[in-house]
Amino acid sequence: MCGIVGYIGYSDVKEILLKGLEKLEYRGYDSAGIAIRNEEGIHVFKEKGRIADLRKSVDPSVAAKAGIGHTRWATHGAPSKLNAHPHQSVSGRFTLVHNGVIENYEQLKKEYLFDTPLKSDTDTEVIVQLIELFVNEGLDTEAAFRKTLKLLKGSYALALLDTEAPDAIFVAKNKSPLLVGLGEGFNVVASDAMAMLQVTDQFVELMDQEMVIVTKEQVTIQNLDGERITRAPYTAELDASDIEKGTYAHYMIKEIDEQPLVTRKIIQAYQSETGKLSIDANILQALNEADRLYIVACGTSYHAGLVGKQFLEKMAKIPTEVHVASEFVYNMPMLSEKPLFIFISQSGETADSRAVLVKVKELGYQALTITNVPGSTLSREADYTLLLHAGPEIAVASTKAYTAQIAVLAILANAAAQFRGRALDFDLVHELGIVANAMEILCDAKEELEQIARDYLATARNCFFIGRSTDFYVGLEGALKLKEISYIQAEGFAGGELKHGTIALIEDGTPVIALATQEGVNLSIRGNVKEVAARGANPCVISMKGLESEDDRFVIPEVHELLTPLISVIPLQLLAYYAALHRNCDVDKPRNLAKSVTVE
Ligand code: G6P
Repeated sequence: MCGIVGYIGYSDVKEILLKGLEKLEYRGYDSAGIAIRNEEGIHVFKEKGRIADLRKSVDPSVAAKAGIGHTRWATHGAPSKLNAHPHQSVSGRFTLVHNGVIENYEQLKKEYLFDTPLKSDTDTEVIVQLIELFVNEGLDTEAAFRKTLKLLKGSYALALLDTEAPDAIFVAKNKSPLLVGLGEGFNVVASDAMAMLQVTDQFVELMDQEMVIVTKEQVTIQNLDGERITRAPYTAELDASDIEKGTYAHYMIKEIDEQPLVTRKIIQAYQSETGKLSIDANILQALNEADRLYIVACGTSYHAGLVGKQFLEKMAKIPTEVHVASEFVYNMPMLSEKPLFIFISQSGETADSRAVLVKVKELGYQALTITNVPGSTLSREADYTLLLHAGPEIAVASTKAYTAQIAVLAILANAAAQFRGRALDFDLVHELGIVANAMEILCDAKEELEQIARDYLATARNCFFIGRSTDFYVGLEGALKLKEISYIQAEGFAGGELKHGTIALIEDGTPVIALATQEGVNLSIRGNVKEVAARGANPCVISMKGLESEDDRFVIPEVHELLTPLISVIPLQLLAYYAALHRNCDVDKPRNLAKSVTVE
C-alpha cells in the first residue's frame, strides 16, 4: 500500500527514486510518480500502472539531486494519472507525496479551500493546497506545514518539496510508516528500509506526529510544537540479497522454498544454550497471569492465529479467542478480567490491527506482537515482541511468514506449558526438525503439484477447500492463497458445514480440495468427500502418510498431529502458485492487493 521515497544529496536522483520505488512494489500499487528538483524548478512524472511505465515516461535528459517518489494504492479517487502522486499546489511551488488517509479532508476542503480549484479526487491534494494557503497568508513553509499537520485527522506519511527551499525535503509521519536514512553528503526518506538499502543501511525511526526537515547534511526531527527531538540511528539488518529474486521466476516460489530454512532459523533463534526452546520470562509471566488470550490479526496472519489457538489451548491450557482486527475494533467482545492481547502481523504495520492495539493500550491491557519486522509500529507499541526471523517477504501472497507465525506460536505455547508446569509428551525441537525435513520433501514435489494444479485448476471457475479441525483452518489459508493470486473464486469450509448450504454450488467437475491429516476426523472428512463426489465434484484429497487412502491425490509426510498446518499448507501454496502461472496472472503483484495495508 502506498510507498514513499525521497533523496537529497549529490547524485542524480532519478535512478535512486525509481529503484527505490521498485523495492516498494511489493506493497501493492496502481500508479506511481516522481518529482525531481533542479535549478530550473520541479519536474513531475507520473503514470498509471507499473514502475516500468513510469520509467519510460521520465525524461532522461533532466538531471536533479533532490526528489521524492510515490507508489499509490487508490483509496480516494480511481487509479489514474491525474490522481497519482506527487500532487502540486496551485502555483506549483509545493509538491507532495502522501501515504495514508485523511479522514477530515472534505471538511478541510469546505472550511479552507472553497476558493481553490482542485485538480484531483485525492485527500492528498487538500494537504498541499492548505500548505500553500497558509504560506500565502504569511507563514513560512515550516510553520505552514506544522499548522496543516495539526489540522489533519487520520494517517499520513508525507514528503514535501518547496521550490523556495531548494535544500530541504519536509517530512512528517502519523500512523503510516516512514523512516529517514542517513548517508555521507546525502539523506533519504522511505516507507521501508528496503527501498533505500541501495544507498544506506543507517536509518532513524520516526514516531507519530513528528515532522522532519531533511537536507543533504542534516536531519532535524521535531514534534508538532516545534521542539527538537534527538534519536540515534540503527543499522538495518537486511542483506540486499534477501530482497533479490536470484534465479527464481517469482518471489513467491522463492519464499515457498525458504520455509524449511526459516523453520530451522526459528528453532535456532529460540533455542537457549542448553538446546531447549525458550521465550522471554516476562512474556511467559504475562501469559500465565492472563485468564484469556485474544489473538487479533488480518488475512493470512488471522489464519495462523486460528492454528495458534489450538496450540495455546491444547499445550498450555490457556483459553484463547481469535479475532479479525477490523471487526474487533468496532465490535469488541465482552473481555475477560485479565486479558492478554496477541497481535500477529507479518509487516507489523497493518492499520486494522494497529487500531485495536491503540484501543487495547488505552484500556490499560498488555499486548504481545508477533511480527517479521523488528521496530515496526505494532512491535514498538506493544509491551512485548516475538520475531519471526523469516527474512523479508516480498510476494504479496504470504507464505513463509504464515509458517513462521505458526512455528513461533508453537514455541510460545510450548514454553507457556512448561512455565505452567505442564509436561508435554513430545519434544518440540525434535518435532520441528521433522517438520523442516518434511517441508523440504514438499518443496521438491513441485512437478507433481504443478500437474495437480493443471488437472484441477487450469480452467476452474471456483474451488472449495474442506477440512476438519486444524485442517479446516489450513483450508481457509489454501483458499485465500488461490483467490489472491489466481482470481479463482475459492472458499474454505469446515468439512461438516459445506452440506448446510454451499453444497448447492457443486456442479459437475467442481474442484473440492480436501485435507485429511487428523486421525480423529479422518473418517468424517472422507464422508464429506463422498457427499460432494456424489454430486459431481472433482475431489482432490491431500492426506498425511499413515492416514492415506488409495484414491488420494497427494500424500504429505508424517509429522506430529498438532504441527500438520506447517506442512499441509505447502501443497496448497504450490497449487495456488501454479494455478496462477497457468492463468497468466501476475503472481507476485496480484491485482487490487497490497502487502502492507496501512489504511483501515
Ligand atoms: C494484506 C496482505 C495479506 C496479509 C494481511 C495482513 O491483506 O495482502 O497477505 O495477510 O494484509 O498483513 P500483516 O502484515 O498484518 O500480516
